[in-house]
Amino acid sequence: MNLENKVAIVTGAGRGLGKGIALKLAQEGASVVLCDILPSDLEKVGFEFAEAGLQIKTIVGDISKEEDVNKIFESTLESYGHTDIVVNNAGINRDSSLVKMDNLQWNAVINVNLTGTFYMTRKAAIVMKEQKHGRIINISSMSWMGNFGQANYAASKAGIVGLTLTGTRELAKYNITCNVICPGFIETDMTRGVPANVWDLMVSKIPAGHAGQPSDVGNLIAFLASDEAAYINGQIIEVSGGMVI
Ligand code: NAI
Repeated sequence: MNLENKVAIVTGAGRGLGKGIALKLAQEGASVVLCDILPSDLEKVGFEFAEAGLQIKTIVGDISKEEDVNKIFESTLESYGHTDIVVNNAGINRDSSLVKMDNLQWNAVINVNLTGTFYMTRKAAIVMKEQKHGRIINISSMSWMGNFGQANYAASKAGIVGLTLTGTRELAKYNITCNVICPGFIETDMTRGVPANVWDLMVSKIPAGHAGQPSDVGNLIAFLASDEAAYINGQIIEVSGGMVI
């Protein structure tokens, strides 16, 4: 996919899926703004990408804070003058059974995953409406349909589906597409932390027989971000090796 002259913002790009997505977009020629709440990870990735000759910029920010979201867009526009692609990937989990889940666990996940993605999507819509083009790609999860121990996470990821598909309806006339990606079980810090028996259980549900890699998701995003994907809108797309949960 040729993404030359396009500018992309990727949140949660300091590691894992976000890093893989940012790498793919940059390799396809986009100028990529990598955002993350953790300065140390972001610095490391920024250095690595710059060494590889990729066109990038890093911004430290917390997507659950509206002022940080405004800063991310202002800084991107100041550097590049436009924002063509926004990938809302940053997310957290605080798993617990429904009866044991406390308010802190609930609020933390909703604030980052849902409210943060709302702040980013709303700001992207404002900027892209003005430009009369854009691609908004939000990362949900197959857990959006409900999953053991993930009431907060599933609710936040289901919310992302509703938010994004509303964007499709309201923004398509401005040449903006909004799609949702539901990764299955991808090898990142988030999943590497699970106990070995849970890892094996998850992999047993994947016909492909192994966990996915961040690049598997990055490949789809590069396509959705391209001019060729202009008519793909309002879709919920799984990248899961055929996983059934
Ligand atoms: P990860 O935990 O390895 O990376 C998440 C990144 O987001 C980290 O760099 C973290 O610092 C950053 N982040 C967290 N809170 C933030 C905030 N408030 N503002 C800005 N950045 C913040 O997780 P992973 O696995 O890379 O997941 C990325 C996304 O993909 C998440 O939304 C997750 O829910 C989703 N996902 C992951 C799956 C997997 O199997 N790894 C499966 C389905 C969905």
